[in-house]
Amino acid sequence: MPIKIIGVSGSPLPDSNTDRALQIALAATGHQTEFIKLSDLSLAPCNACLGCIATNSCVLQDDGIKLAEKVFKANGLIIAGWTPYSTIDSRTKTFMERLYPLRHRHGLMAGKAGAAIITSAIPPGREGLPAAAELGVGAIENYMLEEGMKFVGSVKVAGNVPCVRCGDTGQCSVSGLKMIFGHAATPSEVGINSLEESPATIAALERLGSEVGAAVYG
Ligand SMILES: Cc1cc2nc3c(=O)[nH]c(=O)nc-3n(C[C@H](O)[C@H](O)[C@H](O)COP(=O)(O)O)c2cc1C
Repeated sequence: MPIKIIGVSGSPLPDSNTDRALQIALAATGHQTEFIKLSDLSLAPCNACLGCIATNSCVLQDDGIKLAEKVFKANGLIIAGWTPYSTIDSRTKTFMERLYPLRHRHGLMAGKAGAAIITSAIPPGREGLPAAAELGVGAIENYMLEEGMKFVGSVKVAGNVPCVRCGDTGQCSVSGLKMIFGHAATPSEVGINSLEESPATIAALERLGSEVGAAVYG
């Protein structure tokens, strides 16, 4: 069986920064890869019923069962999420919850290589603002550590404040733009961040992918 790395994106936007960042990391693994977009699938959160204990398979009859089987058969997993209300997005969280069946009694994810990519509007380490990027990475890292995976690392990608796409001219009193960039900030000044404009982020994503590719060997 060839080595396979699965990449899962929680971003619902077509061809988003989050998707493209994940695709760059996947391409750098040097292995067979599969890109999965969670918004194309139907997935309910864990019901905490523990119906998966004996079978290592979920009782919820949706796409989560096949997805967990796919992840189990793979050698590595890169999870890419975004941060509405400055924490991990709900699709990515639901996906991780639905991998819980792989845990019971056998620890079926243990030893697999893993990494996290997070796209956030609030830049990492910004004092006085929610730690969106760090919380997003932490959610994925905690999942991987709790499952005994080899967590290789993470990349934080500069995303876009939704206000830039909203059409407001800068007068909005609850603008995320003002929260992040100050009271005088306007959508046209801040503009749209495109991943391809940051060679340093692209290099970090390629490094992450190649480290995941190397980590599958043990
Ligand atoms: C509805 C919505 C709410 C968001 N809330 C936050 C937030 O609270 N904190 C944050 O850092 N980013 C927030 N973002 C930005 C996203 O985390 C992310 O950077 C952006 O959606 C990525 O889009 P892109 O992949 O097209 O660049 C929000 C985005 C949307 C669409």
